[in-house]
Amino acid sequence: MPSTRLTELGSDPASLAAMWSALAPEPGGRTPTIRAVMIASLDGSTTVDGRSGGLGTPTDQFLFHAMRARADLVIVGAATALTEGYGPAQPHEAWRAYRGTPPPPVVLLARTLSDQLVEHCAGHGDALAVAVTPDVDRDRIAEAERRGVRVHVLDPGPYGAAVRALATRLGAEEVDFEGGPRLLARLLAEDAVDELVLSLAPEVIVGAHGDPLVRTEDGATARVPLRVSDAFTGPDGGLYTRWVVDRDGR
Ligand SMILES: NC(=O)c1ccc[n+]([C@@H]2O[C@H](COP(=O)([O-])OP(=O)(O)OC[C@H]3O[C@@H](n4cnc5c(N)ncnc54)[C@H](OP(=O)(O)O)[C@@H]3O)[C@@H](O)[C@H]2O)c1
Repeated sequence: MPSTRLTELGSDPASLAAMWSALAPEPGGRTPTIRAVMIASLDGSTTVDGRSGGLGTPTDQFLFHAMRARADLVIVGAATALTEGYGPAQPHEAWRAYRGTPPPPVVLLARTLSDQLVEHCAGHGDALAVAVTPDVDRDRIAEAERRGVRVHVLDPGPYGAAVRALATRLGAEEVDFEGGPRLLARLLAEDAVDELVLSLAPEVIVGAHGDPLVRTEDGATARVPLRVSDAFTGPDGGLYTRWVVDRDGR
């Protein structure tokens, strides 16, 4: 029976170089290339106690920060950013030599400008901005901007195309999309995502229920074929993989 011996990557310089090159985007892809980064337990749960941080392994943290270091734009759902407490991107020691420029701006995707979201982004300007749908009240946007929140208004029309257009407007070629599951479902189903970098945390969460990797709001389903492009393991025993959306397989 054929078997694959996975490369184990630690935190030594040779491992970091190998991880960096394993995470290079598939050649010949679209611009911008939108690359979703997610972690799931082996049973497909995406959170522990409501947070994905509970699943993270040391290797996943290296990978998460490598994807930020590679990107020229980070996009993430507002719900995720508030739950996980994501602020502006910070340079990560391991990847400093690989990225010669300051960390990428982070844009939080939202449909509403909640007080909590405005509070979270206040004073951060482009380093931690918000992108809202075009129906958001203009006075609300002006008030957020007075508080030092940079607010991008997405184009009307299909959501995935509007997110891609925003990335183009911001001059991004490689976009790191950090979820969460609801936005991943929407952007995948609308063909806005090009790659999925999926960490499999080496554990089963006993008793997890109804918290899969992608979650639609209206029960809609979509089949999105992918092919594995790279895989490696680490000293923590997890499996770290890169998948490419297989448009020929649709
Ligand atoms: N395992 C992982 O890798 C991973 C990664 C990320 C997050 N998570 C976890 O997932 C949970 C949050 O995920 P989630 O799925 O509830 O939220 P989410 O994917 O972060 O997305 C929902 C957020 O996106 C905004 N949004 C903007 N346009 C939208 C649209 N057209 N459709 C849907 N949402 C839109 C919503 O804005 P409004 O708030 O204005 O409605 C909401 O804030 C957290 O527990 C987090 O820890 C896990």
